[in-house]
Amino acid sequence: MKINDRLKKIGDLVEANSFCLDIGCDHAFLDIYLVQKNKNIRTIASDVAEGPLNHAKENIKRYHLEDKIECRLGNGLDTYSEDVNTIIISGMGGRSMIGIFKNHMEVLKKVDTIILSPNNYQVDVKKFLCRHKFYLQNEELVKDGKYIYQILVFKKGKKRYTKKQYFFGPVLLEKKGKLFEEYYKRELKSREILIKVLPKNYRFKKFITKKEIKMIKEEVS
Ligand SMILES: C[S@@+](CC[C@H](N)C(=O)[O-])C[C@H]1O[C@@H](n2cnc3c(N)ncnc32)[C@H](O)[C@@H]1O
Repeated sequence: MKINDRLKKIGDLVEANSFCLDIGCDHAFLDIYLVQKNKNIRTIASDVAEGPLNHAKENIKRYHLEDKIECRLGNGLDTYSEDVNTIIISGMGGRSMIGIFKNHMEVLKKVDTIILSPNNYQVDVKKFLCRHKFYLQNEELVKDGKYIYQILVFKKGKKRYTKKQYFFGPVLLEKKGKLFEEYYKRELKSREILIKVLPKNYRFKKFITKKEIKMIKEEVS
């Protein structure tokens, strides 16, 4: 099965023997990739909407993986099952992800791994999970088409991070590399444009944006 680079990267970060809940599975390409790649991975492919879940069911049937991937219709963590140890959510906004966790805070005590690829508000997501006893074990950037995506791997445990570490990601800040440069050069450009178009009364937003510009300039050549 052909899978895009973003989903492949997420799949490659899942540990052997994991029991995953993929929230917002859509077509279930990630779930199919996971169980085909590793015999010892099981997944629940879940989605809030019937259309995508039916699409997932068709794909799973096509690959004869019904015994490895269970499909569940439901909102966020409503589809959680007790022996799941890894939650995966990708291709959604960061604030939706936080909302999903807030609806079922008890699940954060039960799982040990959370893999997220939020489309936006990544810093909010990092701060939220780190306030609730997770730390960032790994972070990756992946380019898929013209977009660069962040993938965040949280593990159970407590670590303290500085504002700068939250902003760039503590692991990415250590690793850096070419994609990091490209990603933050784009972030710099969008903030420089934002500063120019922000109305005068958006003083606080301007203040924060200028601080972020300064931080990016310090880290990116
Ligand atoms: C853009 S697709 C992402 C699909 C896949 N995860 C990926 O990364 O390519 C978002 C999917 O999330 C589902 N979704 C949105 N909110 C959800 C929620 N609260 N609970 C479960 N699924 C949700 C949508 O129905 C849709 O199928």
